[in-house]
Amino acid sequence: MHRDVESILLTKEQVLARTKELADRIAKDYAGEPVLMVCILRGAVLFFSDLVRMIDGEVDFDFMAVSSYGAGAKSSGEVTIIKDVSRPIEGRNVIMVEDVIDSGNTLHYLKRLLLERKPKSLKICAMLDKPECREAEIEGDYVGFCVPNKFVVGYGLDFNEKYRNLNDICILKSEIYD
Ligand code: IMP
Ligand code: MG
Repeated sequence: MHRDVESILLTKEQVLARTKELADRIAKDYAGEPVLMVCILRGAVLFFSDLVRMIDGEVDFDFMAVSSYGAGAKSSGEVTIIKDVSRPIEGRNVIMVEDVIDSGNTLHYLKRLLLERKPKSLKICAMLDKPECREAEIEGDYVGFCVPNKFVVGYGLDFNEKYRNLNDICILKSEIYD
């Protein structure tokens, strides 16, 4: 275990098993219709890459990068688009793939933005959900795990751009971010 980690919340095996369940649900819900999966960089990238490979159906990718955090563990509520999707989404079935829904501010903003472009459908898939922390009115359509209000890292999730490459989803020692 990494020395900055207090405990493991979810192992890679647990995440992969749950990801397969979500992938099967997505394949069933879209029943042969093509889906555009939009990865919200950078935290969702590992979850995204496992998820899309497990979906038995027609899937296309695109990527968005946003910033809502600054250098810390607290959401600022302000969202900046750093990279937008590279093609129009009008008339398409879109699923935004996010690492964690925390305050919900990021996805609330992105959902409004993408809905203006008139997709055929728009859904949210999140590896983790922290319902206790919600400020904006937003819900995940496909959620991996509901987790307590603790700062977690690993499996793509970072603290100040560190720990993204840890295999498991880990609770960081509080002295690291206090
Ligand atoms: P929201 O706008 O507050 O919902 O923030 C969502 C974003 O905050 C996520 O995409 C993550 O980048 C980041 N975030 C929230 N909680 C955590 C955490 O526990 N660890 C790492 N990043 C987090
Ligand atoms: Mg993120």
